[in-house]
Amino acid sequence: MRDFDETTITEAVVERFGATPDPRLREVIQSLVRHLHGFVRDVEPSFAEWEAAISFLTRTGQKCDDKRQEFILLSDTLGVSMLVDAINHRLPEGATPTTVLGPFYVENAPELPLGAEVAQAMKGERLHVSGQVRSAGGAPLAGALVDIWHSDEDGFYDVQRPAEENASLRARFRTDAEGRFHFWTLLPTAYPVPTDGPVGEMLTATGRHPMRPAHVHFMIAASGHETLVTHVFVAGDEYLDSDAVFGVKQELIAEFTRAPEGHRVLQYDFALKRLG
Ligand code: BEZ
Ligand code: FE
Repeated sequence: MRDFDETTITEAVVERFGATPDPRLREVIQSLVRHLHGFVRDVEPSFAEWEAAISFLTRTGQKCDDKRQEFILLSDTLGVSMLVDAINHRLPEGATPTTVLGPFYVENAPELPLGAEVAQAMKGERLHVSGQVRSAGGAPLAGALVDIWHSDEDGFYDVQRPAEENASLRARFRTDAEGRFHFWTLLPTAYPVPTDGPVGEMLTATGRHPMRPAHVHFMIAASGHETLVTHVFVAGDEYLDSDAVFGVKQELIAEFTRAPEGHRVLQYDFALKRLG
């Protein structure tokens, strides 16, 4: 076949992929072609616009290295990451909602004893965190691994401060016999997603701010259960309704109260989905 025009090109390309041996790859690529062509028909780009789009995607790739993942940030800021998350976490009643992992997770953070101090020479208000890990609709989970990380008073993670050699504001804890955990840290603050790349350009050009509301990240693993990746957000934060990555869920917002001694207190319980 030849002489394709606006009305015949899409089905011709779809058909060209018709012999893809892997049925899932065939489904994905044919759907991609239909949606991509539909998008192009919808916006009717000029050649200059098409070149600008190619340049944007090229620069997005060029911005990536082993520490920076601009394509995931693009996915996050377009709401795609949270859509993929929602599709993959249709949770049972009572299970703690999930949200994005984000780029500041570091594997193998120091495993500390319950009650330990997580902050190493970083600035912020003192915060005590405690909670219990349970199976959704079931018993407490002893020995669950609770991995936590968050930003400091200036909105930076330890990995964004090259001068900081040691892990700070990140650690792992094992829950006790009653599924409980507790530790000391600092109150996180709102911070911007990285804006020194193409995603920052996109946010500026579209009049969007780059801020994420203050939160503590949790990744909780327990045998026989789906690993929970989530955050707990600070109630009252001004960005809760305009998170740059669309990650806020009402159930994940908690009061960080003030103790009579002056420090802040977060008490939050988690429920994990049972596997199988
Ligand atoms: C974060 O919460 O660490 C994060 C998530 C998505 C994009 C940027 C940062
Ligand atoms: Fe974060």
